[in-house]
Amino acid sequence: MDYLSDTLGIDAIWISPFYPSPMADFGYDVSDYRDVHPMFGDLSTFDRLVARAHDADLKLIIDFVPNHSSDQHPWFIESRSSRENPRRDWYVWRDAKADGSPPNNWLSVFGGSAWELDDRTGQYYLHSFLKEQPDLNWRHPAVKAAMFDNVRFWLDRNVDGLRVDAAHYVMKDPAERDNPPNLDRSLQGHKSLGAYDSQVHVHDKGHADVHQVFRELRALLNEYESPRMALGEIHIYDWNELAAYYGEDLDGLSMPTNFGLLKAPWTAAGVRGVVDGLEAAIPQGAWPNYVLGNHDDQRLATRLGEQESRQAAVLLLTLRGSPTLYYGDELGMREVGIPPGRQQDPWALTVPSRGRDGCRTPMQWSPDSAAGFTLASEPWLPVGSDHAVRNTQSQLLDPDSHLNLYRRLLALRRGSAALRTGSYLPVDSVPPDCFVFERSLGTERVLVAVSFSAEPLSSDVPGLTGRIAVSTERANEDNEVDGTLHLLPHEAVVVVEIPSDVEPKGEE
Ligand code: GLC
Repeated sequence: MDYLSDTLGIDAIWISPFYPSPMADFGYDVSDYRDVHPMFGDLSTFDRLVARAHDADLKLIIDFVPNHSSDQHPWFIESRSSRENPRRDWYVWRDAKADGSPPNNWLSVFGGSAWELDDRTGQYYLHSFLKEQPDLNWRHPAVKAAMFDNVRFWLDRNVDGLRVDAAHYVMKDPAERDNPPNLDRSLQGHKSLGAYDSQVHVHDKGHADVHQVFRELRALLNEYESPRMALGEIHIYDWNELAAYYGEDLDGLSMPTNFGLLKAPWTAAGVRGVVDGLEAAIPQGAWPNYVLGNHDDQRLATRLGEQESRQAAVLLLTLRGSPTLYYGDELGMREVGIPPGRQQDPWALTVPSRGRDGCRTPMQWSPDSAAGFTLASEPWLPVGSDHAVRNTQSQLLDPDSHLNLYRRLLALRRGSAALRTGSYLPVDSVPPDCFVFERSLGTERVLVAVSFSAEPLSSDVPGLTGRIAVSTERANEDNEVDGTLHLLPHEAVVVVEIPSDVEPKGEE
């Protein structure tokens, strides 16, 4: 906690699911929404966690998994026991087609049909993810009420918000029509999912009725005196469609996650396209979100490269919106190669190239064995082989490290109202390899410039007199800027304007 709040300087933690679970999908298959898996402790451990976070001035966001439970959840055990069971309709059960095949062509994100035939009652049930994760039927009022009660359970324990897992999946086409073919093979989910991308997923998720669910969820959050929020995990790259999740009157999700920068080509135009696209689409008063790494995608520094991942840090922490930072990305942690036999992710077992274990390895705290993460002889997943150099302890001592860049950026953001809440304005008259934007609030003005060029470049920024507060090239920090910016290859800088009525610093 001290590391997160004081050393790093973040404001909130999102923890992935800690509930009782058979761990088919590492906690995203919940078998009891109101308890803690014994491997992590119990409810009193959780209460201590909340209290400790709040003592450290950190908000705590928990993962809420509404779309599906575990197949070991008592609700599903009852539901599958007979067609007449009162909880039968809590999940989605359908008859086979006349030839015995699944009710429609919907596919599971994790591979194969989204329908599993259950021999006991001779019907198929729907699972958008693993077959061990049956989809709950959110059209059933009792399901919605029970799930909202589960949300209350945790809000009453003082959590500050929810990260709503696979949020757009909860409402499907009520007529359950087949998805049409995806003729141009455009991206349909987290990442290129192979067979999953053979369809346009218009009917098996994101039905317009989903917005009513989030309106009701937001109303529930608003029942609490202290502010509570909901960040919805939504993989949609059409900005207008994504913007709809804020709700017509900003009464939907507090923020849908924006994965645009994970997919965008890493060029000035590619990155600016995401930012401007989102900014133009979201309603007045809506607050953007940016994600550059998470537990489902390849590590940022592996995906983009060393220098680029430093630029990414500058962008993430200076764009208008809430940045979501994945643990270890502040060290530039790399994707770790997982030897055969040590894979844990069920996805790695069905489609090896989709495995997510490489970004889920132990946090690298120190050069010690197991990177100071555990005293066990063998951690759950292998420790990155670079942990002797890439760890918090060593990086804290190196002013040029990734970690110290993140710390300087976070400290700057904390002290700058313009960066925290100011407006965003892109600057047009800059070289094509450069993305430059301004953040301002009142009289405070901050300029961010990111060069995507492999060559040094200069850019005119008329009227700007300022000081480089943070740069990916630390030697340039504190340099003054007067109307022209000089950037090294792949450099990203944050320039704080020196107001014209303030005399520049004297020699001493
Ligand atoms: C989300 C989670 C992912 C999980 C899936 C199913 O996409 O981020 O880790 O496997 O939902 O719950």
